[in-house]
Amino acid sequence: MQKNLKPCYYGEYLHLDKLLGAQQPVSPDYGVEAHDELLFIIVHQAYELWFKQILHELRDVDLVMSQTKINERELGAVIARLERIHQIQTVMIQQLSVLETMTPLDFLDFRDYLIPASGFQSIQFKEIEIRLGLRANQRINFDQQSFYSRLNEHDRNHLINLETLPNLHDHVEAWLARIPFISTTEFDFWQAYRKAIDEMLEQERHIVANHPNLSQQERDFQLREVGNIGETFNCLLDSERYEELRQSGRFRFSQRALLASVFINLYRDEPILHQPFRLLTALVQLDENFTMWRYRHVMMVQRMIGAKIGTGGSSGSDYLKQTTENNRFFRDLSLLSTFLLPRSALPALPQSLKAALDFNANR
Ligand code: HEM
Repeated sequence: MQKNLKPCYYGEYLHLDKLLGAQQPVSPDYGVEAHDELLFIIVHQAYELWFKQILHELRDVDLVMSQTKINERELGAVIARLERIHQIQTVMIQQLSVLETMTPLDFLDFRDYLIPASGFQSIQFKEIEIRLGLRANQRINFDQQSFYSRLNEHDRNHLINLETLPNLHDHVEAWLARIPFISTTEFDFWQAYRKAIDEMLEQERHIVANHPNLSQQERDFQLREVGNIGETFNCLLDSERYEELRQSGRFRFSQRALLASVFINLYRDEPILHQPFRLLTALVQLDENFTMWRYRHVMMVQRMIGAKIGTGGSSGSDYLKQTTENNRFFRDLSLLSTFLLPRSALPALPQSLKAALDFNANR
């Protein structure tokens, strides 16, 4: 590392003249300055800085995950980047409380001056969504129609271009689908898994059928539920039925990618699967944190504007509630527990497969 050539000065290094000069409330232009407008601006700017940092991490994650061969060491760096994003997300969720010290009445002092600007137009937020894997056709109807129409040409072109590129979801799916060691010639893992599942479901049927505290109605309901779970497993293992469910939107990953993620979760104690398991867990966490932020934002919006429409023209908290449910990035991974078995019921792996799960397995 070289020595610095000229003395560094705190304010110059951080460009504080630009940073601290960038808070320009609009309320004085209309008469009286609204005291809380400064807080409103600073909180939004702080978010945009965090979005910038998240994008910086995601670009790096993308560089690694877009490769056709990923080595273990690089996977560690990806997990570290995602864990940093988790911490930022925690701050982002918490930070809304600062803005909530502004009362709805104080907000009304300047809210109308902001029309038609809105968080809709946060390009960095939308870029994060797109980079993580949210496609235009997945957005709820209102968002599909409104999204691009509210942006200037430059921003619109930037995001439209980004949508044409592979996203993190695509990269993770391709990486999972490449994992080679699930079937060997001497052992069909999925057949053994199916047998273990059937045994587990049979046991559950037995418990329900003989449970002394269930009424006949409850018993019938529970037995139907066990049957439904069996059907879900059938679909997971049948490529045609899986594809039908995928087309209907039930799954997003290819069957091969989903099976690989089930396998990683089931056998995560095998050394070579530690890192992949941590990566999948980190993606679930990131998705969950994003959803928590959305949820937290809805609660704040309800408190601030009640049932009014948003400055961007959406139905307000109602629109935001729908995006909270709908705009998930790694839902398949979040719902993976459906397909898990207790450790005691896992099929034992043959020696050759165990050897393939050693640290030098080539992926
Ligand atoms: C008084 C505080 C706030 C209110 C009342 C509010 C209200 C709203 C409303 C109603 C929408 C829906 C779009 C519209 O019709 O305008 C929205 C979207 C959005 N807001 Fe806020 N917001 C507030 C603070 C924040 C803050 C601090 C952030 C941080 C960046 C933020 C980020 C966003 C984003 C990213 C969207 C787009 C969400 C999406 O399309 O999925 N908002 N906001």
